[in-house]
Amino acid sequence: MDTVLKVLNNFKLNFFSGKFYLIEVILFDIPISFIIYLFVKNSSTAFSLILILLFASILLLYYIRGKRNKELNEIKRIINGIRKNEFSDSNEIRLSDSLSNIQEDIKKMFEKTKNDIEYLKKLERIRTEFLANVSHELRTPIFAIQGYIETLLNGAINDSKVNTYFLEKANHHTLSLSNLLNDLIDISMIESGEMKMSFRYFNINDYLSSVVNELKMMAEEKNISLIYYPANERLQLFGDKNKLKQVMINLIQNAIKYTEKGKVEVLVVEETKFGRIIVKDSGYGIPENDLSRIFERFYRVDKARSRAVGGTGLGLAIVKHIVEAHGSRIEVKSKIDEGSEFSFKLKK
Ligand SMILES: Nc1ncnc2c1ncn2[C@@H]1O[C@H](COP(=O)(O)OP(=O)(O)OP(=O)(O)O)[C@@H](O)[C@H]1O
Ligand SMILES: [Mg+2]
Repeated sequence: MDTVLKVLNNFKLNFFSGKFYLIEVILFDIPISFIIYLFVKNSSTAFSLILILLFASILLLYYIRGKRNKELNEIKRIINGIRKNEFSDSNEIRLSDSLSNIQEDIKKMFEKTKNDIEYLKKLERIRTEFLANVSHELRTPIFAIQGYIETLLNGAINDSKVNTYFLEKANHHTLSLSNLLNDLIDISMIESGEMKMSFRYFNINDYLSSVVNELKMMAEEKNISLIYYPANERLQLFGDKNKLKQVMINLIQNAIKYTEKGKVEVLVVEETKFGRIIVKDSGYGIPENDLSRIFERFYRVDKARSRAVGGTGLGLAIVKHIVEAHGSRIEVKSKIDEGSEFSFKLKK
């Protein structure tokens, strides 16, 4: 009895949901019935033939709907599976042969959603890491300033042997704090697309000699010779002078900071359509494994060494963004204990 009910139910479902194809069946049956009526002289034979045609159409409708239901259920099963994260790879998505076309589309959709989700997770991870890094970097100078001020308040202010020293130290940390905040503001402006660029042709020779001059003192303090090799006097390159100043200062300061002895050289190599600006040092060098990571925010090869020279690891991230905003790419070559060379091209 149960089986009979089930078959009847199934039939009812398939039959009634077959209504979506009813118009096509009627449009097909009417002309055929008309032809039967015209060509079969005997009216009872014609009537029987038309009845058979109708019956066959109903059976066909039932069959087609049954097949359609099965296919729809198959698609539903896959969609539910995707929703419940049952698939880890698109190759696990399999539909019957008649649905191979849609199978490819579903696979592509699955891949796209998977990639989007992974990308969002990555962004979330980067955001969390960034926040953790920022808090950590802020904590160091704030704690130090707090420490010096507390010590001064607790009596050291009257001790002429240490009071100036403590104030100088506190002042040094406020400078780090202010550098960090400036770098953070730059990074957030760049990454939110708010950095306005103003491109112009400018004389690279005048420009570089003035930037190098500004950093001469810093190099002298470390006994490092900072050398600028003058470029073709008439060479004009295309870029945003202000933003490029940040790039050059960062690269030259890094070269000085991470060089113990020797020299830092700045030069321009002229190519047919470009001028390549190079900053070369004879410093510590960067291990090969770290080379691809030094442009990440807060990444420092030797954290202790970088912090000791007041670095926060944001400099090269800013450099990379600015150089890329010029449609160029920052390149780096380095050998441990021999030195590093950073360079990028600007349009002529
Ligand atoms: N010329 C270089 N020679 C050796 N190592 C370098 C050089 N330039 C950068 N690095 C390494 O890459 C890291 C990242 O450089 P980046 O300029 O981003 O940060 P930083 O100099 O530590 O801090 P900041 O520039 O924010 O003050 C540095 O900490 C350092 O380890
Ligand atoms: Mg730096």
